[in-house]
Amino acid sequence: MTRRAVVIGTGHYLPERVVENAEFETKLDTTDEWIRTRSGIERRHFAADDETTSDMATKAAEAALKDAGLSGDDVDAIVLATSTADLTFPSAATMVQASIGMTKGFAFDVQAVCAGFVYALSNANALIASGQADRVMVIGAETFSRIMDWTDRSTCVLFGDGAGALLLEAQDQPGTNDDRGILATDLNSDGRFKDLLYVDGGVATRSTGYLRMQGNQVFRHAVEKLAQTAHTALERAGLGADDVDWIVPHQANIRIIQGTAKKMGLPMEKVVVTVQDHGNTSAASIPLALSVGKQRGQIKTGDLVVTEAIGGGLAWGSVVLRW
Ligand SMILES: CC(C)(COP(=O)(O)OP(=O)(O)OC[C@H]1O[C@@H](n2cnc3c(N)ncnc32)[C@H](O)[C@@H]1OP(=O)(O)O)[C@@H](O)C(=O)NCCC(=O)NCCS
Repeated sequence: MTRRAVVIGTGHYLPERVVENAEFETKLDTTDEWIRTRSGIERRHFAADDETTSDMATKAAEAALKDAGLSGDDVDAIVLATSTADLTFPSAATMVQASIGMTKGFAFDVQAVCAGFVYALSNANALIASGQADRVMVIGAETFSRIMDWTDRSTCVLFGDGAGALLLEAQDQPGTNDDRGILATDLNSDGRFKDLLYVDGGVATRSTGYLRMQGNQVFRHAVEKLAQTAHTALERAGLGADDVDWIVPHQANIRIIQGTAKKMGLPMEKVVVTVQDHGNTSAASIPLALSVGKQRGQIKTGDLVVTEAIGGGLAWGSVVLRW
């Protein structure tokens, strides 16, 4: 038997305020048409002034607990992927730990920007496989609206806020690639590309800073690296593209999503797409798409799901799991 990390609950939270592309037309030299055709984004949610990353993460975690029929004290660990934690420290994960009434175990943040959720899933999988935890709440949550330069039309129209969560549980499975749970992971980074996508603030500058991106350069890396990491993870699982039921990609840009699916030889019918409604929510985008995909009736028990993401660092990776 093999100890696998199986998804037993999903949940997500989106802030109430929805901002349509048209709203940017009144403030910037941009159009709904440009944003739609270049990115696929139609609208995004922005957090309220008093709403933080840990608030949204808590709501997503509570929804995942409800979905699993469990409570905070049934969880051994929280791994929270975010680049927009409420404070420099403590971690947003420990804030969520307190909010969901989890009085034991441990909680920590993972920071790999838009690749954060695949990094968090991979870490959670290792905690379960090694026997350090039986149930791990894996959350992606972001308030990128707080690090937008509202005068930079090439970035501020692309991002949104939100949170998604998966509850993983250790389950003994036969040990084949038909098992439920996480079957393989692949993580990569290359710090030589740090200037392509970064925030120009932090402890070094004593300020929060704003997101800076060379979008067309990031684009160039994205399709190739995403298809490659998905291929590597599938190969590690002893599977191929033909076995895939759903790709659940990081939701940054519809053209990157389409290009990656094409490079993998998979039709768009097998891709869960939420970018039109959420924009790029960085580490929250994959768990949001998984939770929405399940709600829509797309992802079902037994389906083979591949998630893949790339972001600042550059950092990228992928996870293959059977739902
Ligand atoms: C950002 C992105 C949508 C821009 O699309 P693009 O086709 O590469 O466009 P470019 O950056 O080459 O810009 C083309 C032109 O549009 C302009 N432009 C940029 N933002 C604009 C906006 N919101 N409205 C109108 N025009 C805009 C640029 O100024 C440029 O004008 P110029 O040719 O006169 O200089 C695209 O590069 C992208 O999505 N990249 C990946 C970004 C990403 O996903 N990052 C996150 C990874 S986690």
